[in-house]
Amino acid sequence: MFPAEFRIRDVAIRPATLLAPMAGVTDTVFRRVIRGLGGCGLIMTEFTSSEGLAREAARTLHYLDFQPDEHPIAAQLFGAKPAVMAAAAALVQELGFDTVDINLGCPAKKVVKCGGSGLLRDLPLVAEIIRAVRAAVTIPLTIKIRSGWDECNIVATEVARLAEDLGVEAIAVHPRTRIQALTGLADWSIIRDVKQAVKIPVIGNGDIHSPMDAERMVAETGCDAVMIGRAAATNPWIFRQMEQYFLLDRGAGNAVPGNNCRDASRQAIGAAAVYDEPSESGRYELLSQYFRSLIESGMPDALGKMKHFACWFTHGVHNGAQLRHLVHSARTPAEVLDRVDSFFAAALTAG
Ligand SMILES: Cc1cc2nc3c(=O)[nH]c(=O)nc-3n(C[C@H](O)[C@H](O)[C@H](O)COP(=O)(O)O)c2cc1C
Repeated sequence: MFPAEFRIRDVAIRPATLLAPMAGVTDTVFRRVIRGLGGCGLIMTEFTSSEGLAREAARTLHYLDFQPDEHPIAAQLFGAKPAVMAAAAALVQELGFDTVDINLGCPAKKVVKCGGSGLLRDLPLVAEIIRAVRAAVTIPLTIKIRSGWDECNIVATEVARLAEDLGVEAIAVHPRTRIQALTGLADWSIIRDVKQAVKIPVIGNGDIHSPMDAERMVAETGCDAVMIGRAAATNPWIFRQMEQYFLLDRGAGNAVPGNNCRDASRQAIGAAAVYDEPSESGRYELLSQYFRSLIESGMPDALGKMKHFACWFTHGVHNGAQLRHLVHSARTPAEVLDRVDSFFAAALTAG
């Protein structure tokens, strides 16, 4: 059964679901959309450069902006200098984050030279960074890893054991190598291997697109929680859908112990009927509200963010390619809003 809750030391995360950190996507405005829709246990910032915080705090600090209604919230940091990472983590704690996370997974060329998955080739340095950060903060410390640099160097369980020994309190595993980036399939057997290697909570990540995928990941790997990235950008309702799906699960299990009512209900009403799909007007509301909030928040490069988000979100919209084109060819945020309004006005009237 899907876990209703898990804990990172004293931080209770209910339900056991996390929004994955996604650079360019999971800023404070998007995270609040996810919070507002419900069903997500822990949200995380996009990765934030520890060097950037040390060198040009004013330009980098906005990555760590958050609002009180985002709790519980984790901040993710990247970097390869132990002292600089420690100072950044101390700042994260001072800002009021519930937990701090070290990025050991980013595959981008610019990042692997100074952190991210590049560190998976230098475990002594990983240990030094963890030690320094651990000594700098009292809030819970987590790491997010890939399986290794390439298929000949799978180090996930080794890193997990090392991290646990050094006081890391949960580990998120995205089981692709750095070389794979986001290609191929995530190898969930590596999540299972990590879960069997350590006692701290293990968060499974990679290729969850539906509540049923999440259920399968927990069953196959024994992970304590699941983390969702791309599917949250194409379908921000996914956490709420999981909550609906798993509530039915628990209700059925409680009603008739030992009897898989859930499967019977699914057969009776069809799998899709166990959670709500967003309506076209729901999609319109979400998109226009999100875009309006981006403008109101004064977020740097609101237009760029609107275009980026449109690439994800419009895949779920009827005639999404047309909407994508309309957003991409707009020259100002106000023009994007006008176009979104007219697109949905026409679609909703026709529908
Ligand atoms: C646009 C984008 C940005 C990402 N940025 C980050 C990041 O800042 N930190 C991080 O640890 N992972 C980052 N990732 C990786 C995701 O957190 C996640 O591990 C990956 O997308 C696999 O999960 P999914 O299949 O649910 O998308 C990013 C992924 C995408 C698609």
